[in-house]
Amino acid sequence: MNICLVGINHRTAPVAIREKAAIRTAQLDDALQSLHPRLSHGVILSTCNRTEVYYTTDDDSDAKTVILGFLQNLLDVSDTVLRKHTYVLNGEASVEHLFRIASGLDSMVTGEYEVLGQVRQALEIAEKAKMVNLPLRHVFQSAVRTGRRVRKETGISKNAFSTSSVAVDLAASIVTCLEGCKMLVVGTGEAGRLVAKAAKDRGVSHIAVASRSRERGLKLTKTLGGMLVSLSNLVAELHSCNIIVTCSNAPHFVLDVTKVDMAMRKRPELPLVIIDIAVPRNVEPAVGQINNVFLYNIDDLASISERNRYRRKSAVREAENIIAAEMNKFNSWWQDFKIRPLISAIMDKAEKIRLAQLNRTVKKMPSLSDRELYSLEMMTRAIITKILKDPIRFLKDNRDSDYDYTDIVKELFQLSKIKRDDE
Ligand SMILES: NC(=O)c1ccc[n+]([C@@H]2O[C@H](COP(=O)([O-])OP(=O)(O)OC[C@H]3O[C@@H](n4cnc5c(N)ncnc54)[C@H](OP(=O)(O)O)[C@@H]3O)[C@@H](O)[C@H]2O)c1
Repeated sequence: MNICLVGINHRTAPVAIREKAAIRTAQLDDALQSLHPRLSHGVILSTCNRTEVYYTTDDDSDAKTVILGFLQNLLDVSDTVLRKHTYVLNGEASVEHLFRIASGLDSMVTGEYEVLGQVRQALEIAEKAKMVNLPLRHVFQSAVRTGRRVRKETGISKNAFSTSSVAVDLAASIVTCLEGCKMLVVGTGEAGRLVAKAAKDRGVSHIAVASRSRERGLKLTKTLGGMLVSLSNLVAELHSCNIIVTCSNAPHFVLDVTKVDMAMRKRPELPLVIIDIAVPRNVEPAVGQINNVFLYNIDDLASISERNRYRRKSAVREAENIIAAEMNKFNSWWQDFKIRPLISAIMDKAEKIRLAQLNRTVKKMPSLSDRELYSLEMMTRAIITKILKDPIRFLKDNRDSDYDYTDIVKELFQLSKIKRDDE
């Protein structure tokens, strides 16, 4: 058995491609169900930086084809374009990749916290869909533990940045005085909350938040201040704001050319900076062509993120050491996991023989006392344990060996079927 992944991420595809493969949390179960008939065990991790499917398989080519087909369907691209933007990792490489993701090393914003919760949630959703087996559970749980260790034991998330706070930094680098600006935040989920908080921390005096839900919007304005506006009345807001950060889960454009053009006619001299960190994007790309509108998307945060990564260089090194130590633990577990079914099969066969022989012998003997029966039981068990002790120790000692002893052991002990220990 092998652990593998097929995915697309911010290094292999721009947001315009990536957004088509973005699967919202509420849709993850449906996506897993669509894979289930052809893939027994899998976990989908979909964040603004990536969509990846982790799976276990005995025959990689089949599962890989199923998942590539699934991604191709979402992306609606040719085989050549699909191959250009997707990657396939196998075995240790796929596990290490997930450990790096959970640690925030693979994020556009190094050390961000949000991804750790997303890794945990991906596992929970796949568990509910009954698509998680022991290896996948162990990989994801180990990744979460690694991510927690990295954040606790290194400074990688100290004064943590998030994509949202980097978006506010980008705005600050474009306008001359952030404090005097009016900022509109579209979306009041986790990203919207972080944008509003970062804006408040950097001294933005006028913050307006646009929400679908009045209740959720009020909750945010109550804690962080600012004004609540209705999503249906965005154009009126566009007349006066200087910066807009969009981060809603809307599957369609919240701001299109018509709306922004209409607003800009009323304020032709006043520049408008729009930073769209939503995936899929909330703002129609052609909005960037309107005079005096400066449109950025999540991929435009890369240069600021690179500076952030550079500043955290030594923490990244420490994180990599923790990942290496966790990989050693994982590899050791994996080697045990691989030989466990074989050892169980040997012991099961020996136990069946012992019981059959014991029962046959007991039936032929005059009635025995409980104490005598107990002694016989213990004696037969001790014989089995002593006979099997050396072969089992040999298998454990040689579990890392390049030579696979499975076939020879199966033949020696005449083990026809080995029940896998992965459910
Ligand atoms: N979380 C992060 O750190 C992060 C980082 C970078 C980018 N992003 C991107 O930001 C976006 C939001 O992420 P999130 O983590 O904040 O999600 P979230 O916590 O689930 O919040 C989603 C927000 O989108 C709103 N929304 C959902 N469907 C909508 C629709 N059809 N029309 C208008 N608004 C809608 C929700 O409104 P209701 O409250 O009314 O449901 C809520 O305010 C995503 O595109 C994500 O990829 C997030």
